[in-house]
Amino acid sequence: MDSAAALIAVRFALYLDLMLVFGLPLFCLYTLRGAERRAGGNVMSSRVVVGLALAGVALSVLGLLLLAAAMSDVPVLQLDRETLGALLDGTAIGTAGKVRVAALLAALPIGFWLRSRPSALWATLSCLGAIALGSLAWTGHGAADEGAIGQIHLTADIVHLLAAGVWIGALAGLLTLLSRVRVSSDDRQERMALAHRALAGFSTAGTLAVGLIILTGLVNSWVLVGVGNIASLPGSLYGRLLILKLLIFVGMLGLAGWNRFRLTPAVEASLGTSDATAAMQSIRWSVALESTLALSVLGLVAWLGTLAPPASGS
Ligand code: HEM
Repeated sequence: MDSAAALIAVRFALYLDLMLVFGLPLFCLYTLRGAERRAGGNVMSSRVVVGLALAGVALSVLGLLLLAAAMSDVPVLQLDRETLGALLDGTAIGTAGKVRVAALLAALPIGFWLRSRPSALWATLSCLGAIALGSLAWTGHGAADEGAIGQIHLTADIVHLLAAGVWIGALAGLLTLLSRVRVSSDDRQERMALAHRALAGFSTAGTLAVGLIILTGLVNSWVLVGVGNIASLPGSLYGRLLILKLLIFVGMLGLAGWNRFRLTPAVEASLGTSDATAAMQSIRWSVALESTLALSVLGLVAWLGTLAPPASGS
């Protein structure tokens, strides 16, 4: 794998990992209640989130090494200490990288200290995840502009990352709950009821996340593409990847609407009847498809962030 492809692969893995570190505990906070929280470990073990945080540390270090190698145009194994030091101590990317690693490492003691207090644990892990995820704005085009436009773009990009993290964290949480109802167990009816309530409960957070994604995506597009370059978008690799991303996004919106207005009510109507298994299976497949589309969007943005955007004129 050449270094450019390796950098895109690490960016993709980092987007996914940090969106889960932020979005999964947040999903538990607005989905699980009362006894479910205390039993939260069965639903979403904090060990999973701490494990993801540590994976985030390794990916962050690898990402910074690959970035330093790409910037000095040498293979990563020939990277010298000065170049790495210049990136880490002399650039905003380096500072953001150090903040990200510190936030992720803090998840370890937090995961241990707060293991018997699920609400405080998930709230703290989600905050640490938000810091780490937001810091990625400095590794792409989010921090490329100066002045007031620069501040607007950076803020929009951070909100774009967090809103995407809410959606993708929830998809992972829903898939986990929906896969648990497949297992025949004494509490299968409770598991089905919990999965249904999580599906219904996501509609508010989902609508908010989609609204913020569209708003901040338009700001990103306005700054990085520019109104004057819209017509020529199909003429560049960047433009074609962005168009493909938006088409997949429309597909995700369609599936999310189908889940919310058709499949979730069907699950509700089937609870306690013999139709419940079939209704659960339909929505499980639909959420799995929506998650696959979400992964492809992350793959596209991992690539987009390494290409020159139209408004840069290069
Ligand atoms: C499923 C929905 C979406 C997800 C998960 C998503 C995710 C992301 C992520 C992770 C980035 C990289 C941010 C960075 O590293 O700084 C990004 C960048 C971007 N997004 Fe989205 N986005 C979504 C929808 C949209 C929509 C609807 C638009 C346009 C209206 C949009 C426009 C952009 C643009 C222009 C960029 C900058 C690409 C670059 O780095 O050059 N996104 N998006």
